[in-house]
Amino acid sequence: MGKDVIIACDFASAEDTFAFLDRFGERRPFVKIGMELFYAEGPDIVRELKARGHKVFLDLKLHDIPNTVKKAMNVLSRLDVDICNLHAGGTKAMMKAGLEGLVREDGTRPLLIAVTQLTSTNQEALENDLLIKRPIEEVVMEYAKNAKDAGLDGVVCSPLEAEAVHDVCGKSFLTVTPGIRFADAAADDQKRIMTPADAKKAGSDYIVVGRPVTAAKDPLAAYERCLLDFIG
Ligand code: C5P
Repeated sequence: MGKDVIIACDFASAEDTFAFLDRFGERRPFVKIGMELFYAEGPDIVRELKARGHKVFLDLKLHDIPNTVKKAMNVLSRLDVDICNLHAGGTKAMMKAGLEGLVREDGTRPLLIAVTQLTSTNQEALENDLLIKRPIEEVVMEYAKNAKDAGLDGVVCSPLEAEAVHDVCGKSFLTVTPGIRFADAAADDQKRIMTPADAKKAGSDYIVVGRPVTAAKDPLAAYERCLLDFIG
């Protein structure tokens, strides 16, 4: 898989999701499905998206003991998803177990990427709640290295971190970056944002775009603008 634009389908139901995707005609964009939609609709939403020809990033951010993550990943691999993720904070052993669980009977597997630190975690919470007394930028890079050591394919990170992650973990280590906004649009609740064109310059491998496409008057036009700016 090469560079691509992934649409974050943050809808509450399958009905809303497919009503939205029907507006794309014959196009089959790469989509991200999160906890809300997956817990509401179950695995059928993934089966239906795959049957319609979409690539699927299943954003469930697993974090449990290694054996449980391995077994859960095995179930997800059978849904034929394209990208899965887990928390790097679950340890290298958990990440390795997750990766092992993802391998299908035919030897193929979805890409596996790690969440380093959630963007909702700030320095204060890192130190006072998680008891990690290091600058958050260093923690993000160390967790990215752990993910690489565990054999994962990449990390979810801010486009502002993509270059540093590539410097530390190598160019082939994937950076999947949310926090994307057009220059002429609202940031919503995102704090550290980049345009699709700047994310391209920063070396992002995949951009994850939600509201700039899902809330656009013309979602297909907004999606095509992302593709043009990010891929050319
Ligand atoms: O609407 P918006 O473009 O802000 O959506 C971004 C998507 O990426 C949402 O699904 C959000 O949960 C997800 N995400 C994020 N920041 C992270 C990890 C995931 O915005 N650090």
